[in-house]
Formats: sequence, C-alpha cells, structure tokens
Amino acid sequence: MKGIVFSEFLELVEEKFGMEMVDKIINQSDLKSQGAYTAVGTYEFSEMLQLVQNLSNNTKISIDDLLLVYGEHFFQVLERDYGKMLALYQDPIEMLSSIENHIHVEVKKIYPDAELPTFEVLEKTKTKLIMLYKSGRAMHQFGLGLMNKTFEFFNTSAEIVLEKIKKDGTEVKFLITQIPNGPK
Ligand code: HEM
Repeated sequence: MKGIVFSEFLELVEEKFGMEMVDKIINQSDLKSQGAYTAVGTYEFSEMLQLVQNLSNNTKISIDDLLLVYGEHFFQVLERDYGKMLALYQDPIEMLSSIENHIHVEVKKIYPDAELPTFEVLEKTKTKLIMLYKSGRAMHQFGLGLMNKTFEFFNTSAEIVLEKIKKDGTEVKFLITQIPNGPK
C-alpha cells in the first residue's frame, strides 16, 4: 500500500484525536516501517490493518466507520494532488464508472506498485450505477466515503447501498442511485 494512504491516515488521526493517539496506535502496532511513511514509499497492508484496528480499540469506533470517514477525508487529497484527473469529468456517474478503465489505470502509471481494487460496471444509466468491487483488502467503506464525496463534488447526492457478495468484504456490490435535484 502506498505511503500516501498511511501518511494521510495519520494526519487525520492527529486532527481528530491528537498526536498522543498517533503515537499510541503506532506503539501498539508491530510495524516494520516503525510508523515512518513517505508518500511515494510502499508498505505492507498489514500495517494499515493494525493501525486501524488499534484506533478502533482505543476509540470504540467500528473499523467500518473509521474507514468511511477516512475515505471521505481522502477525497480532499485527490482534489489537492490529482485535481487535473478529476477535472476531466462533468458527472459523478461518469467518473465512478471510469475508475477501472481510466482513473486507476493512470494511478498505475504513476505508481506501478499500487495495490488497487477492481470496480466492474454491471449496469449503468444516466442516474444509476451498479458496480462490483473486488479487493483482498476489503476497503469497501473507504470506497463508499470516496463515492459520497464524489457526488458532493458535483453538487449532488446519491443513495448508495452496499451488498456483500462475500462475507469478508472482498467482493461487494455497490448500488448507486443519484438523487434528482439533490442539494445544490
Ligand atoms: C486506492 C488513487 C479515485 C476507490 C487508491 C490508491 C491510490 C488511489 C493511490 C492507493 C493504492 C495503494 O495503496 O497501493 C486514486 C486517484 C483517484 C482515485 C488518483 C482519482 C483522481 C477513486 C475513487 C474511488 C476509489 C473515485 C471510489 C470508489 C479506491 C479504493 C482503494 C483505492 C476502494 C483502496 C484499495 C483497495 O480497496 O484495494 N486509489 N483513486 N478511488 N481507491 Fe482510488
């Protein structure tokens, strides 16, 4: 997993819970990196799992909720660092249906060692999108957070229902319906 995912996570933990919590979860985890991440480095996904698990233990917030909020936060990182990629889209459904064959393809060019999920489009209309998420990392809630913010970015909103195809969350169907005349 790329370092930017770790460094931005620790930034958010500091912002929400303070530097003491950052130190605490790093100390409670068994990290090969010792918690020193550079944005372009690559680290074991198991380090992220431990950090999130320990944050969950300390705060009593579920891992799902933590990953959802983290996904919503990460969208700001995309806006900041990859604004040009986002500017290619005029519509949230167009953007989300292009993750697999455009957005993450470009990411792979920048970071050949990025570990990305697959998002297969099963159905698509102007206002509806059904996609199948597959990833051994089971970060579907992080994806949901990014999707919520994608709709917000285009000044609209959506109802997004997740249907687990596999219990462990490594295959999840996203049923997305854009809400007409959403908040402007
Ligand atoms: C992971 C880039 C848009 C879903 C990632 C990672 C990067 C990235 C760098 C980490 C890879 C690694 O750690 O090795 C981008 C960029 C985007 C974008 C530059 C747009 C400009 C989206 C959107 C979604 C999404 C809109 C919506 C669902 C995910 C998920 C992961 C991920 C769920 C976690 C890894 C996993 O589940 O296996 N992305 N992404 N991405 N991305 Fe994107």
